[in-house]
Parts: sequence; C-alpha cells; structure tokens
Amino acid sequence: MKSAFTAALLAAVIALPAYAQEASKPPEPFTEDFLSDAENINAGQEMWAEQCRHCHGRTAYPGKAPKLKPYKYKPEFVYRRVTDGFRKMPSWEEVYTDLERMQITAYVLSDDFSP
Ligand code: HEC
Repeated sequence: MKSAFTAALLAAVIALPAYAQEASKPPEPFTEDFLSDAENINAGQEMWAEQCRHCHGRTAYPGKAPKLKPYKYKPEFVYRRVTDGFRKMPSWEEVYTDLERMQITAYVLSDDFSP
C-alpha cells in the first residue's frame, strides 16, 4: 500500500516538470489572412465577452488580472497562454477547440479589441 503510494507520488513529481515544459503550439502557423479574417475576429470577440472580460476587462475587479498589452504580443504567445494557462491564468484547452483558441487570439490582436 505504502510503496504503491510512494511510487505514484514519485511518478507525479517526475512527470510534472516534463509536462510543464510542453508549451502548446497552434496546429497550423498563424497567417495574416487568419488574423484579419472578420469571421475569426467576431467569433473570438464572443468568447472574450463570455470568458475573459470578467478578469481582463475594463470593469473587472482591480488586480484580478493584468490589463492586456496586445501590441507586445506575438500570436503564438497569446495562444499559448490561453491554451496552457499560467499561474492564475486558467487553461482553456478543455473548453475551446484549437480553432476557437486561435480565434480568441485573432480577436485580442485585432483593431476591434476592446477589453
Ligand atoms: C480567472 C481570471 C482570468 C480569466 C477568466 C482569464 N484570465 Fe488571462 N490572465 C489571468 C491572470 C491572473 C494572468 C496573469 C498570469 C501571470 O502572468 O501570472 C493572465 C494572463 C493572460 C495573458 C498574458 C498577459 C501578459 O501580458 O503576460 C493573456 C494573453 C491572457 N491572460 C488572455 C486571456 C484570455 C484571452 C482569456 C479568455 C479566454 C483569459 N485570459 C481569461 C487571469 C484570467
């Protein structure tokens, strides 16, 4: 009993750093066409309003999450944060498909972005 528990614990501890290093990449590289496509941007905007605004939006409780600075981000970075999460930033991998997470990225990086 005890050794099985110890083995499981050890396995988890060993597996964790390897898992944490595995940063998610989009299934296909982002293209200008994808990022500027109105359909993608609109779909991303809806998801933003449903899931992101209450933490990152202008009316969010101060200090809940950082104000986003899209001019500083590459699409791969936004995709990775949305997919993997980071510290108190939740992961959306189980919530949204790869395409949807790419669309959220397109919205955040678009001129329409309005937190
Ligand atoms: C529960 C609150 C919460 C929700 C909901 C949330 N985030 Fe975050 N997000 C955070 C926090 C906290 C951080 C800062 C993590 C850190 O760096 O420690 C963050 C960081 C980020 C970053 C990186 C910012 C930077 O400059 O480093 C991006 C991009 C981001 N979030 C996008 C989103 C998107 C898009 C959504 C919706 C799918 C979303 N977040 C939903 C809390 C949230």
